[in-house]
Amino acid sequence: MSDLFSLNRAARLVGATRADLQKKIQSGEMFSFDGKVAIAELLLCYPDAQLEDTAEFKRVTQIKERAFGKRVFERALPDAEVLAARITELSKTLAHSQAQLEQFNALLERLWDKFGEMEGQCHGEARTKMEGLKCWIKQEVAAAMEPGFSNPLAIKDGILSVMTAQVTLLPSQQDFLVEGRDTLLEAAMRAGLSLNYGCSGGNCGLCKGRVVSGQVKKTRHHDFTLSETEKEQGIILMCSNTAVSDITLEASVTGGVQDIPFQQIAATVKAKAMLTAEVMLLHLQTPRSQRLRFLAGQKVSLRVGHSFTAELPIASCPCDDRNLLFHVRRQTGNLFSDYVFERLKTGEVVEVEGPQGEFILHEKSGRPLYFLAFDGGFAPIKSLVEHAMSLEVETIHLHWIASAPEQLYLPNVGRAWGDALDDFHYSEHTTGFDLRVSNAKREAQLLHHLQEMAGTDPAMTLGDVYLAGPEAAIGVAEKFFLSRGMPKTRVFVEAVR
Ligand code: FES
Repeated sequence: MSDLFSLNRAARLVGATRADLQKKIQSGEMFSFDGKVAIAELLLCYPDAQLEDTAEFKRVTQIKERAFGKRVFERALPDAEVLAARITELSKTLAHSQAQLEQFNALLERLWDKFGEMEGQCHGEARTKMEGLKCWIKQEVAAAMEPGFSNPLAIKDGILSVMTAQVTLLPSQQDFLVEGRDTLLEAAMRAGLSLNYGCSGGNCGLCKGRVVSGQVKKTRHHDFTLSETEKEQGIILMCSNTAVSDITLEASVTGGVQDIPFQQIAATVKAKAMLTAEVMLLHLQTPRSQRLRFLAGQKVSLRVGHSFTAELPIASCPCDDRNLLFHVRRQTGNLFSDYVFERLKTGEVVEVEGPQGEFILHEKSGRPLYFLAFDGGFAPIKSLVEHAMSLEVETIHLHWIASAPEQLYLPNVGRAWGDALDDFHYSEHTTGFDLRVSNAKREAQLLHHLQEMAGTDPAMTLGDVYLAGPEAAIGVAEKFFLSRGMPKTRVFVEAVR
């Protein structure tokens, strides 16, 4: 076990969030060394960290208690060979520690013999001191050998190292944990990291990474052929390999929307569900070998039937690039809407093109995030919030401002986030007028709503504000925040019809 833990690993060990630890480091309560924390520091800040209290331990216990092999638990357990390799590594460490312990015991024996020889030659005060020293060593050794002396964090780290592996990316120095049967690419996406990739299915070779240290294992077949030179250099496909041990991996992280290629994918309708009489949840699924690479908050063009198209924001997280969710609003007389509501069938092909748009999360800001969704603007906001949550952003405020109560078509989502996360604040507002209509009276009414909202949270203008919804509403909201002295670089807008 290493004496220094990455924040991800340390957070897992003490059952806290990465943000909790960052807060302690920033306040000086906990010291870090090159972004890592020492075990002693962790124990000082979390003295009650007990083995039985950890989510990791509970999870392992649950898995043990229920039948192995049940599909629902397969995701939590690593591949059998990976598990065997990790247990072998742990066994080697254990064997090494046992060998060391035996050597220390032998050394102790020899020390007693030496003491015996020396005692025979000592007299008076020297002999008394010698006896005192022997007594002290005996007590210390007995205390060290007492059951329960072992460090609880060391035990937890042992479990963690069997269940997960840590990946450190170069040159970005970001790190994430690989759990269950996830490939390196899937685990990175789950952690909210956007690595460069293409098909996710082993065909394009765009997800190449170089293993600098540690052991990986190919868990999925890939058609793309790596050259012998690449293999010798440690190049692997991240969509087809998992981490056996903690690894350091050289891989490029997406710099922004310019790094995401334009894609054309024939997806199929997995499900349609009416959220209200006017809003439908459309669930599309891409082929396994051709998933949609996008950044949270972006949109795509959908083509249905005889080329009826619409540009819609993706209402799901890039961490699941195969299952794409959309909130489609009924617009009678609009050919796309009529087709989707009246004729589109489960299993039918929908052409997806994109992604487009720059309404993405500015991850490095570190400021509290304020999301204001106006009516259907909830779709891209939902994608951004889910992405922010996978990045473990500390403070998130979500306001859903609707023309009428029925426009709050997924209220349970925001409420559930609020219940589940410590620093997630959700509130709903209804204006009583159509947010798509723009005139002086409506503008004044909306400004009044925004003033009231900002009045209850004066810190709002210190954060980053993301606005999405009908053009008329976000235009007023943008003006409002800029008039309060916020720079344009902290107010992000997206028009959603
Ligand atoms: S993403 Fe295409 S081969 Fe990995």
